Amino acid sequence: MHEHDVLVIGGGGAGLRAAIAAHEEGADVAIVTKLHPVRSHTGAAEGGINAAIRDGDSWDLHAYDTMKGSDYLGDAPAIETLAQDSPGETVQLEHWGMPFSREDDGRVSQRPFGGLSFPRTTYAGAETGHHLLHTMYEQVVKRGIQVYDEWYVSRLAVTDEDDPSDRQCHGVVAYDIKTGQIEGFKARNGVILATGGLGQVYDHTTNAVANTGDGAAMAYRAGAPLEDMEFIQFHPTTLPSTGVLISEGVRGEGGILYNAEGERFMFEYGYANNAGELASRDVVSRAELTEINEGRGVDDEYVYLDMRHLGEERITDRLENILHLARDFEGVDGLEEPMPVKPGQHYAMGGVETNEHGQTCIDGLYAAGECACVSVHGSNRLGGNALPELIVFGARAGRHAAGTDLGEPEIATGKADEFETEDNLDTPVEPGAVADGGEDESAVADGGERTDGSRVSSDPRSDGGETAVASADDVVRRAVENERTRVEYLIEKDEGIQQAELREKLQKSMTQNVNVFRNEEGLKQALEDIREVREAYQDVYVDDPSRTFNTDLIHTIEMQNLIDLAEAITLGALARDEFRGAHWRQEHQERKDDEWLKHTMLAWDDGTPDLYYKPVILDGEEKTYEPKVRSY
Ligand code: FUM
Repeated sequence: MHEHDVLVIGGGGAGLRAAIAAHEEGADVAIVTKLHPVRSHTGAAEGGINAAIRDGDSWDLHAYDTMKGSDYLGDAPAIETLAQDSPGETVQLEHWGMPFSREDDGRVSQRPFGGLSFPRTTYAGAETGHHLLHTMYEQVVKRGIQVYDEWYVSRLAVTDEDDPSDRQCHGVVAYDIKTGQIEGFKARNGVILATGGLGQVYDHTTNAVANTGDGAAMAYRAGAPLEDMEFIQFHPTTLPSTGVLISEGVRGEGGILYNAEGERFMFEYGYANNAGELASRDVVSRAELTEINEGRGVDDEYVYLDMRHLGEERITDRLENILHLARDFEGVDGLEEPMPVKPGQHYAMGGVETNEHGQTCIDGLYAAGECACVSVHGSNRLGGNALPELIVFGARAGRHAAGTDLGEPEIATGKADEFETEDNLDTPVEPGAVADGGEDESAVADGGERTDGSRVSSDPRSDGGETAVASADDVVRRAVENERTRVEYLIEKDEGIQQAELREKLQKSMTQNVNVFRNEEGLKQALEDIREVREAYQDVYVDDPSRTFNTDLIHTIEMQNLIDLAEAITLGALARDEFRGAHWRQEHQERKDDEWLKHTMLAWDDGTPDLYYKPVILDGEEKTYEPKVRSY
C-alpha cells in the first residue's frame, strides 16, 4: 500500500496547485492521475484568468460581475474569496515563469471577456491553460512531488457510518493503466479530488475524452452531496464537426458573430444591446440557437464568427492557436474566411459540495476545480473564471489538507435538518448499477465489513469494543478488495453489452434533451433513457482481456460515473421550474427569486438520489448582493 499525507487525485490545474500548496506547508504529497499532468484538460483552456490587477479595477468589481453572471446563485463568501485571491495567485504564476502576453511597456496584457465590466482577463495567447499547466508542472518537478501518472483512481476508501458527515476518507484505490495492477493509496491527512469536468455526458462537447466526472461521481456515491448539477454551460463558439473550442478571446479581441443573412444578430435582434457578442455565454448561446431555429443559421446548424478584420498581425500575436484549430479541425482559414461555430457543452457549474477550504462533508475528503461546487459560478460561469477557481481553491484545499488553519468556513456542507427537502423524484430511482460481481457496492461507502466480518468504524480512537474499529489501513484494504472483485468480474464476464453502445445512447439523449433549451417532456425522456442505460449497464462486460492499457475497461468503469452524473443533471433540471442563468425552461420563462434562491442538492441515499435545497448566501463581507434584472 502506498502512503502519503495528502493525495491529490488529478494532475490538471487544480490538482497541481493543490499539490504545490500542500507541499509548501510541509506535507508529503502525491498526485495520482489518469493522464500525465501536462495532458490534462486544463491544457485546452484558451482564454484566460480573470484577475483585478490594474488601476481602475478592483476585486469587488470582479465579485459583482461574477455574482451577476451567476444570476445570483453563487455564494458570496466563495465569490469574494475568488476575486480577492485571484490577483495574488496570478502574480504567483508570473513569478513562476508563466509566459503571459504583454503590452509594449511590459505589463501583463488583459482583454475583455463576456460579462465583465472591466477588461480583466489575463492570458497567454489563446493557449493560457497550456502554459498554466506547464508552469505549475515545472514547480511540481522542482519540488520533487511524487506523481503516479496513468493511475486511474476508481474508488474512494471511505467509512460507512449512516450519516455521511460522520464518515472519513482514508485513501483511494487506483488501477495502474500500464500494468493492470490495482493498489491502495492511504492518505494520512486527506484526499483532494481534482478530476475536472464531466463533458463526456454529452456528445458535442469541448471536453476531452477523459472528462468523465470521476471524482464527482465517486464522492457522490461515498456520501458527499452534489450541488447545482442542472447548470451546464454551453459555450457559444465550438467547431460544429468536433466540438473543439474557439476561444471567447476571439470576441474579446473584437470578433463578430453573423447569421446566414450576414446580420450581426446580437444587436440586430436585440439579444444584448449593450454587450453584443460579449454578453454572458448563456445569453450568446441562446441567441445563436434562436437564429438557427428561426431559419437564419448556416446549413441549419451554425453561425459565423469572423475575425478577419482584426488583421493578420493582431491575430497571429494574440490568437494564433485559433488559426491552427480552425484549419486543422474544420479546414477553415480564419485569416481569409469566417469560422463556423455553434454552442457546445463546455463546463459544469455544479459538482461536489465544498466549503471555501475545499472540504466536503466527509472528513478528509476535499474537492477543487471543476469537479467541485463551492459555489462561485452559480447558474452561469463567466469566461475567464475557471482558471482562477482552479488556482485559488486548489491552493486553499492543498493548504487545509496539509493542516493549515484557514479559519471557520462560512459555507456549510452536508445535509442539515433545517434544509428543505422535496420528494419530487416522481420516477423512482433504481439502486445504482455497478456490474461488480453481482453485489451492489455503489450505494455504500467502502468501510462496511472487514474481510473477517467485523465492522469498520471511522473512529480512530476506539479500542475495538463492541464496534470493532478498523484502522485506516483496513478501510483502504477493503476498498482494494472490492475493486479487484469488480475488475475481475468485468474482465472475466464474456458476454453482455459493451459500454460504447451505452455511452452513445446516453450522450445522444443528453444532447437532445438536456441542452440549452429544455422542456419537461424532453427532460423526462432523458431520465427514461438514463434509467434504461443504467439497467443495461448491469449486463456490461469488457471484451478486451488484456492487463495493459485496457481502455475498454477504463471506459466501462467511467460509464458508471456518466450514468450517475447524467441522472443528477436531469433530476436537478426537472426540479428547477424556473429560468435562471444557463438553465432555460420552456414552461417556466422567468427567474423566481421568491422560490429559487437556493441550491439544488442531491445526496446518494442507499442508491436513491435524495433531493433537497440549501439557501444561497448573498451576504458578502461588506454588502448584500441584491438580485437585479440581469441584462447585458
Ligand atoms: O473561451 C474560452 O477561451 C474559454 C474560457 C473559459 O472557459 O473560461
